[in-house]
Amino acid sequence: MLLAVCSDKGSPGATTVALALASVWSSPAVLVEADPYGGDLAIRLRAKTGAALPEAPTVLTVATAARTSHSPALVSRYAQHVNDQLSVVPGHLVAEQLSGVPDWEPFAAALVASTVPVVADLGRLHAASPLMPVAVRADVVIAVARPDAGSVIRIRERLNRLVPTLAAIRGAPPRVFPVLVSPNRHGKADVGDLQTILAETIAGPLIVGAGFLALDAAAVGRLEAGEDPAGRLARTPLLRTARTLATAVASLLEPNAVGAVSGDVTREGL
Ligand SMILES: Nc1ncnc2c1ncn2[C@@H]1O[C@H](COP(=O)(O)OP(=O)(O)O)[C@@H](O)[C@H]1O
Ligand SMILES: [Mg+2]
Repeated sequence: MLLAVCSDKGSPGATTVALALASVWSSPAVLVEADPYGGDLAIRLRAKTGAALPEAPTVLTVATAARTSHSPALVSRYAQHVNDQLSVVPGHLVAEQLSGVPDWEPFAAALVASTVPVVADLGRLHAASPLMPVAVRADVVIAVARPDAGSVIRIRERLNRLVPTLAAIRGAPPRVFPVLVSPNRHGKADVGDLQTILAETIAGPLIVGAGFLALDAAAVGRLEAGEDPAGRLARTPLLRTARTLATAVASLLEPNAVGAVSGDVTREGL
């Protein structure tokens, strides 16, 4: 199982959505921070013991190893244990380091092959991103936005470009699931508004669902400080909404879900 989480300019929240989803997934998951502009987790995330994560291995280690190894254990081998639910491959620290990996196809193949479910944080995604191979191969692409007007316009425009591009490369529609980072009490209404806006767009018919993650800075801080997501933290708005999201996303992976049969809808369907 491969989920790709991405965002756009002016819509912070991709790393947090990816972290929250991996922390509540129905089985232990690996969070891979593959943001071309560099990662935050090596700096922000603490293990249960309070210790900072080692800066390496990083996503570049996995990408390099994937050129020569096709092992389904490759991603977990380089993932760092955070707690019983979550292990993490942190991103490289600065964007320049990305030039060491000219081709991200083997990396994408390694994420797909992983026996442990993978949530990949792709940062800001667009058609020219070197991480497109991961989005192309993802079971679900989660596009993170904020509920303000500027962010909603950007996600609408982004999806109108990204969805047809992904469909053309895949030869089948991608499963794209927008997620708003919203105040808990407005989340449902914000998602309804977003769906109304997206329904009238080119990408609209191919959007397979939408949801929200609560804006909950206190819980984000606790999660990043290494608190067990299955303990008291599970009752916070952040993790409650993350579980609702995870359930909705997991239902898309079931055999009869929308878009589950690849190849049965052609580009003409767009
Ligand atoms: N659901 C949330 N609740 C509270 N704060 C959040 C939430 N999501 C993101 N943030 C905060 O916004 C900032 C950017 O979030 P991050 O997830 O790192 O965005 P990105 O990866 O898209 O740059 C961080 O300080 C993070 O703690
Ligand atoms: Mg990030």
